[in-house]
Amino acid sequence: MRKITVRATAITAVAAVALMALSGCSTRDPDSAAGGTAEAGFPADSVVGVALPSKTSENWVLAGGLFEDGLSEAGFEADVQYAGASTTVKDQQDQISAMVTNGAKVIIIGAQDGGQLGTQVKDAHDAGAIVIAYDRLILNTDNVDYYVAFDNFNVGELQGQALLDGLAAVRPEGPYNIELFSGNSADANAPVFFNGAMSVLQPKIDDGTLVVASGQTDIKQTATADWKAENAQSRMDSLLTSTYGDQEIDGVLSPNDMLARAIITSVKAAGKPIPVVTGQDSEVESVKSIMAGEQYSTINKDTRLLVAQAIDMVKALQVGDTPETNDDSYDNGNKIVPAYLIPPVIVTKANAAEAYANDPKLAPLTE
Ligand code: BGC
Repeated sequence: MRKITVRATAITAVAAVALMALSGCSTRDPDSAAGGTAEAGFPADSVVGVALPSKTSENWVLAGGLFEDGLSEAGFEADVQYAGASTTVKDQQDQISAMVTNGAKVIIIGAQDGGQLGTQVKDAHDAGAIVIAYDRLILNTDNVDYYVAFDNFNVGELQGQALLDGLAAVRPEGPYNIELFSGNSADANAPVFFNGAMSVLQPKIDDGTLVVASGQTDIKQTATADWKAENAQSRMDSLLTSTYGDQEIDGVLSPNDMLARAIITSVKAAGKPIPVVTGQDSEVESVKSIMAGEQYSTINKDTRLLVAQAIDMVKALQVGDTPETNDDSYDNGNKIVPAYLIPPVIVTKANAAEAYANDPKLAPLTE
């Protein structure tokens, strides 16, 4: 269900394997590749590269500092890079290539564009480095060894359920008018979030409880280029003009907090009541908005836990152990990537204090 299967790619991959077999080449066995490298281990002061995408949400900003500190404390030489604000894909490709050249033993990647790193991760593997996909899966390549993330499909399910709960709290009976937003199409997470949410919402659309009044239910129509707030805001502006001149909008599925706030800004500017709007990331401004009764929900994906999990993987690899994984459902189009998934937590005003109790930055906002 949550697998990212690209049928055409899978068929191409099968054909490629067949061709390689015919030509006498062998494919890399993912398990023995990862395990083989792991068994060898590597020096405790090795370079570990961390290639993060552009800073489209607070979690990425937090992750960089946590990786610097955590990897250095563990004795590694951390090389943390962000893709810039423009030419982001090429930025990240170049950064990963430089990490390979610098002899990084592990390269942790939060992909800017999950489908465009094939060459760089192959070079990394050829140089003997281990590749860990962080938060976002790297697609259509054999050259990714592990994946560490929150359970993205479950994030979507929780968002879909929060939208239903929020609507029911406002008015016990439907039909409810809603609109759907999804993330950047180059981010492998975007369809997983959307599919998770739609697994909850589609039956309610089918039975008439929910009405997507614009008719825009396809992920291509709902996508938000580059995860940019301004793009979500202008789409919301257009939807309000085209569809909500003489009716109210009751709810909006928003894939993250940045876009949720942009959607709320748009609705306010149109002078309409704020609908039930979902989110993700527990960004400071969104937690404030939830406590003020504007944004309805967010998701707590504690970046501290995710970075710690990735660093645990590096430590295991360094001593030659195989890192712990707990999931084998993420298919990147070429292979199942062994994953360690952390459960996400839904947060509304009702449970915010409890959810952020051990987060010194967010807890004070819930008092
Ligand atoms: C992350 C989300 C984030 C989004 C935009 C996704 O890949 O999983 O947490 O909101 O990127 O930065």
